[in-house]
Amino acid sequence: MNVPKHVAIIMDGNGRWATKKGLKRSEGHLEGSKTLEKLAIHALGMGVEVLSVYAFSTDNFKRSKDEVDYLMNLFVKMFKTKFDKFNKKGIKVMFSGRKINLREDVIKSMEEIEEKTKENTSGILNICLNYGGQEEIIDGAIKLAKDINNGIDINNFTREDFYKYLYNELPPIDLLIRTGGEQRVSNFMLYQMSYSEFYFTNTLFPDFDKSELNKSLFMYENRDRRFGGINDIENG
Ligand code: IPE
Ligand code: IPE
Ligand code: MG
Repeated sequence: MNVPKHVAIIMDGNGRWATKKGLKRSEGHLEGSKTLEKLAIHALGMGVEVLSVYAFSTDNFKRSKDEVDYLMNLFVKMFKTKFDKFNKKGIKVMFSGRKINLREDVIKSMEEIEEKTKENTSGILNICLNYGGQEEIIDGAIKLAKDINNGIDINNFTREDFYKYLYNELPPIDLLIRTGGEQRVSNFMLYQMSYSEFYFTNTLFPDFDKSELNKSLFMYENRDRRFGGINDIENG
């Protein structure tokens, strides 16, 4: 099986999942967090090397204080307890996003899990929290500008070289999944998705189980990725 090296998921639809069931939106986020746990272990177990997930965007601060507080508390709880399971499985947890605007206890719980899992080698879970794709490019450009001021040579600087200036140096995204029915990228990993295959599904994130993920992997296998070239058969 041709397994994508880097899979990214826009985990959307938690709120609608809960509303449809007559529950509070927060119940949807809780259920979504359980789905994420199972999915991460499954995906990395299938041979995916990096799984990036969109947990909270810079724009999600526009939501009510109650919802933002609920999510932040949920993150702390997850990183402190549930993530031990990831550590036991050898998964390395990293974060992408801006620390500014995040609560101290959230930052602390992020740093702890990063530190605990930093030597792990059985796959990477990259959690995008207070993350924006344009912000990542801006922050990278600022880092690069500093390096230029310090005299680095930028002759022959390539698009591959710019990956070093992103929050984490990860490979490009092969497969981008968005649950919840919307067909947009909502400021997710813009730099890394330049040649990604897109998979949109109406399934709401809490219902996106292993078999749903398998469907997307199967679809991926049958895509013809050309990267601007021509496929081998036509090449003769
Ligand atoms: C995605 O689900 C999770 C976050 C943005 C934190 P939503 O909360 O956006 O769910 P819907 O789109 O309102 O259903
Ligand atoms: C994208 O979902 C962000 C996350 C999944 C964390 P949103 O629900 O915030 O995106 P829009 O508002 O529908 O574009
Ligand atoms: Mg949404």
